[in-house]
Amino acid sequence: MLQEMPVKPLPVMLPPDLLAFLPCPTPAAWVQAALAQQDVLLLDHRNCELKAAASAMSLIARYSHDAQLAMSLSKLAREELVHHEQVLRLLKRRNIALRPLTASRYAVGLRAAVRTHEPAKLVDTLVVGAFIEARSCERFAALVPHLDDELAAFYAGLLQSEARHYDNYLQFARRFGGEADVRRTVDRIRPIEQSLIESPDAEFRFHSGCPASGA
Ligand SMILES: [Fe+2]
Ligand SMILES: [Fe+2]
Repeated sequence: MLQEMPVKPLPVMLPPDLLAFLPCPTPAAWVQAALAQQDVLLLDHRNCELKAAASAMSLIARYSHDAQLAMSLSKLAREELVHHEQVLRLLKRRNIALRPLTASRYAVGLRAAVRTHEPAKLVDTLVVGAFIEARSCERFAALVPHLDDELAAFYAGLLQSEARHYDNYLQFARRFGGEADVRRTVDRIRPIEQSLIESPDAEFRFHSGCPASGA
């Protein structure tokens, strides 16, 4: 049975272009699962921030000839590491012991759609980055009205950074791939993202799909 969620209105605004970019909203059942497992939510969120920094750094290393990309992603990676430290502090305050968690299927599922030749590989990787940032942002917004004051304020602040990161990734994708190829890539990846978000998922994670019944 679904638990009753206290709803506390907070002014959380998502950029309209970011909402239109995503193929579907987060299922209500995922929000329920997140509220029921806030320790797993926070532990996996911590992992996501670390992976976001690592992905940005890996792009800098792989495409090191592009100074603009390197500078922008270096700043982005630093922001993700600050988020990582903020989640670590929150985990400590809440006495949630650190433990390893398996990764969700989400990023692997999206990256399987990345073309293998350049420059398409870079364009697709940047578009995948935009999807991950946009979905993170949308999930923070979906959670905020139901969280305690401390976590709500933290997530409301974070979603503004992730919205900027979504924009950064998409702008760079357009720079390397051009408007038409990026549009085609977004159209190709949207149904994959939708399926990863809406199809039943046995494991709850920050980017997991719809909780399978009984999960
Ligand atoms: Fe972040
Ligand atoms: Fe981010």
